[in-house]
Amino acid sequence: MSTAAASRDRGDHPTPPALVARVLACLTRRRVDWSRVIEPAAGEGRFVTGLLAQRHPPDEIHAIEACAAHAAAIRRGSVASGADARAKRTGASARGPLLHVRTASVFSLDLGRDLRWRTVGPILVVGNPPWVTTSALGALGSRNRPPRARRAGVAGLEALTGASNYDLTEAIALKALSQLADQAPVVAFLCKLSTARRLLGEVARRTLPVGEVSVFHIDARRWFGVGVAACLLLLRGHPGASCRYASVFADLEATEPASFWRTDGSAVIRCNARPERSACGRGHTQGDWRPAVASPLAWRQGLKHDATDVMELSAGAGGTLVNGLGEKVDVEIGHRFPLLKASDLFHGRSPGRREVIVPQETLGADTLRLRRSAPRLWRYLAAHAERLERRRSAVYRRRPPFSIFGIGPYAFAPFKVAVSGLHGEVRFRAVPPGPDGRPVMVDDTCYLVGMDSASQAALTVALLESDVCLQAMSSLLFEDAKRPVTKRLLVRLDVVEAWRRGDRRAIEARAEAELARLAPGERPRWETALDTLLRRRPGGRH
Ligand SMILES: C[S@@+](CC[C@H](N)C(=O)[O-])C[C@H]1O[C@@H](n2cnc3c(N)ncnc32)[C@H](O)[C@@H]1O
Repeated sequence: MSTAAASRDRGDHPTPPALVARVLACLTRRRVDWSRVIEPAAGEGRFVTGLLAQRHPPDEIHAIEACAAHAAAIRRGSVASGADARAKRTGASARGPLLHVRTASVFSLDLGRDLRWRTVGPILVVGNPPWVTTSALGALGSRNRPPRARRAGVAGLEALTGASNYDLTEAIALKALSQLADQAPVVAFLCKLSTARRLLGEVARRTLPVGEVSVFHIDARRWFGVGVAACLLLLRGHPGASCRYASVFADLEATEPASFWRTDGSAVIRCNARPERSACGRGHTQGDWRPAVASPLAWRQGLKHDATDVMELSAGAGGTLVNGLGEKVDVEIGHRFPLLKASDLFHGRSPGRREVIVPQETLGADTLRLRRSAPRLWRYLAAHAERLERRRSAVYRRRPPFSIFGIGPYAFAPFKVAVSGLHGEVRFRAVPPGPDGRPVMVDDTCYLVGMDSASQAALTVALLESDVCLQAMSSLLFEDAKRPVTKRLLVRLDVVEAWRRGDRRAIEARAEAELARLAPGERPRWETALDTLLRRRPGGRH
């Protein structure tokens, strides 16, 4: 591995000393004790140095670092300068705290059993662990990750793709909280805001003994030159507690929270008022919490193929279709469908002449039969077999050749309601069939629900855009997330409630406008559309 790749692999971005100082000042204000400290990904020792320079440095520090050169740098330089700074300030002798530096991956250690302490006292686990995600590490071929564990509560395609992807900070925080649980540690990490939300959800889901979750925004562009929403996350261990909310502060110096997050252990929602005390204990109050509803809308992720160059076609000269490799493609029309992607949905564009190849009608369907039923498609796919077999994602293993995902009867429904997963400004779209009647597909950056009729699609869009659903969405949506719209969010939008409680006239007016676009001249029959919609249940045909 090149030096640059190795460094990326470790998420190597040292924390500026001025930020370390502000983090430690923030922890002091929050009355965090640090008689014993673990820095689990210590780098060249910026936090170690900062701690040693404190008025009251810790008695003992364990610094763990995967990179031998960085660990050597802690042993050499940072310690001396930190101790010196402290001696100057306090007039104390140069004999400093006990510092143990270990060159190791934190994932190879049990933080409860493998660290030998010579002192006793409260433990602070602090630092700026790597912000790299397991999927980025996968792409680098890296093994820098905790032993593989399937994420509970995440099923299906989601489990195999986005939702089982997490960053190393999350894994290290969970490791510290569980392996040190009997010592009630405080964990304070710089991390992405999205990581902080996931950790809140995990703390609640695993009922980890945490009594306080606080989040302090930091300006990652200023400190690290990166455009991600980031924070200092503080998790305070407390025996018997299991916190289900976080106080969110505008910056490291703020003393009052600007807002709050709550969780039921899966999704996290934003709220403006402090959740009641019972939210930070065994149970939690319902309040503005929205559990998944028994919605008639079975949201699905769109089509996944991971081979754009081969599977997606666009208009070439003289009405031909060409693939991403610039080759003319002539395959059976029954296996080609118009395609919309996230930005198309967001901007309300129609598919134009972009198409996607669909070799299967259902998940895992036999593709060998294409040899007879669609010989031109078979020859085309066989010619690109090597490219298709190279697809990295685990979903393709042990599947028929040329398999795709996100496919089922819902994908072939004549109308759809679809939404981009990538845009924080949510715009639901009713998608009619293409001009020649073929249903339109959306890709896996989008979510969709299959619809039976234009009326049903028009009404569903109007309900999803009603005040009831928009209000729910404002507390569920976090714009900084890589994928702000997820299935978890969508299943919490209650269209039935929107019909019952919403402004009926406004909903019907919106639905009428949508219907006029989808099927000009069709007479609206909202009651019938709603009736058939309500008879559907998740797991049904669509
Ligand atoms: C973002 S840097 C931060 C370093 C230091 N904490 C600081 O604030 O300056 C992350 C550090 O984690 C180290 N690292 C990455 N994976 C690790 C692992 N599995 N175990 C221990 N350290 C690791 C990297 O080598 C890198 O020095």
